[in-house]
Amino acid sequence: MSTKQRFAHVTGWGSYAPSLVLTNHDLEAIVDTSDEWITSRTGIRERRIAAENETTASLGAVAGRRAVAVAGLDPSDIDLIVVATLTPDYWMPSTAALVKEAIGASRAAAMDVAAACSGFVFAYSVAHAHIVAGLARHVLVIGSEVLSRFLDYTDRNTCVLFGDGAGAVVLSLAETHGGARGIDLTTEPSGAYKIWLPAGGAAAPASEDTISGRRHFLRMDGRETYRFATRTIASTALAAIDKAGWAPEFIDLLVPHQANLRIIESVSKGIGFPMERIFINLDRYGNTSAASVPLALAEAVRTGRVHVGDRIVMVAFGAGFTSGAIAMEWTADPAASARADAIGPEDVPVRIPDDWDSVGPLPPVLARAFAARGVDTSGPGVAVSLRLRRIDDAVAPDPPVAAPAPAVAAPAPAVAGPEPGAASDPAVAVPPPASPGAPAPSAAPAPIPDPDPGPGRPARTDKGIAHAGSSESLDAGRSADAADPGVAGRSADAPDPGSTAAPDAAAHPARTEVTA
Ligand code: ACO
Repeated sequence: MSTKQRFAHVTGWGSYAPSLVLTNHDLEAIVDTSDEWITSRTGIRERRIAAENETTASLGAVAGRRAVAVAGLDPSDIDLIVVATLTPDYWMPSTAALVKEAIGASRAAAMDVAAACSGFVFAYSVAHAHIVAGLARHVLVIGSEVLSRFLDYTDRNTCVLFGDGAGAVVLSLAETHGGARGIDLTTEPSGAYKIWLPAGGAAAPASEDTISGRRHFLRMDGRETYRFATRTIASTALAAIDKAGWAPEFIDLLVPHQANLRIIESVSKGIGFPMERIFINLDRYGNTSAASVPLALAEAVRTGRVHVGDRIVMVAFGAGFTSGAIAMEWTADPAASARADAIGPEDVPVRIPDDWDSVGPLPPVLARAFAARGVDTSGPGVAVSLRLRRIDDAVAPDPPVAAPAPAVAAPAPAVAGPEPGAASDPAVAVPPPASPGAPAPSAAPAPIPDPDPGPGRPARTDKGIAHAGSSESLDAGRSADAADPGVAGRSADAPDPGSTAAPDAAAHPARTEVTA
């Protein structure tokens, strides 16, 4: 085993939000609410709704494939896919398994992580741990949700808050400092029934009673959740910052869970962190649970809010109650965002079984709302039946998925691959149908010097995301040798165990101090 210290840098990022927009005014026609109430109490103005053909897997696959493209990798380079979601396509198989096939990740192991709105941060920590433990070299972390199918549109306390979407990052092994430097995760089960989905699990299997009692929809005690959120966002973010050996005043950007503007403003006041350094997009997406933080992060990078060398804190809270924060140093060139333009929803179809033609239909009340506006709700054909796929394959193979369009310099150089016997699944070697023309797996993430976007598909624009991006040189004044992340679960109320520098140092006796 290599004695070099391992770091897990973010090398790719991406997002996908469905194109159907449900405004507060639309909701006024559905439930007893008003645009004024929703805007003033939450900051949310509109949210995205998955179209008829879209599912959590299909949304996540688009965001994930974009993140892989931004990283300059081929899907077959990915060793592990972790999908965070509370709205999986099915109880089994995992949503990650469906995503794996859709993006053409031939080697990756794939699994889901359930930590509600904190799910992405928890999944990120799993990915980080796999990389620094030498189990994986490139991990795709996705947060994806189709909450619109788990909401009670007769309950104004909840249905106005949530939306659908997906975000993703690729973490890659590197020898140079960067990536997560402090990680803090908490779980506080005293809040287990403050936000929950009562039926459908082993405790309350589906029955006529659970259906008539509307127990398959999300329920929430808003006030208790609000109290927990304001308390835990501050304490969890501060714990992660502390573990990184940093102080709040040196944080360039806070990317919080996008649940409620008032919660974020309260945290800003509480810890004296200026709103100008907090990224907010909840006005356009609402609360997308596990997708919220990666959707915000990808948009922040894309719109020029993130620069090489920036210290960024991602922080989330959610059902469980869970919370998690990651204090990280950004090392990737934000201009790589443009590579995601080559990937559209139709490039990563999710396969459905022969006898299963129904793919997540819209809740009827939303279908009626869109119909009233004359909006086509069929959406992009992102779910493709096995039968159709077979016919397509036999008659006219899909055009090759273009290699990620390289536009900028390669991400931070990665080091040798995972140790023998690591997590990747060598048995899954057949290239999946979604990308029959994808290049062969490469032994290492090749540098990407070619600025030519290359042949393939025309550039595409994600309607939900402004295209921008800039890169700036690393702030030379910053210390690059602060303590590495301590990934330590704790109770939200327990005293912060502080930096885990000691165990970390033990785990990495031959620390390589490198100035990025
Ligand atoms: N439109 C109009 N009135 C409403 C609506 C609505 N959509 N929703 C609630 N109200 C009413 C209530 O019925 C109540 O009326 P009442 O006083 O006659 O009973 C009144 O507004 C005030 O209700 P409050 O609960 O005090 O409203 P509050 O200002 O606390 O805002 C909110 C409610 C927005 C839900 C807030 O408590 C909140 O944001 N909580 C946190 C929710 C959250 O972040 N959830 C995500 C958790 S993450 C996860 O894992 C899923």
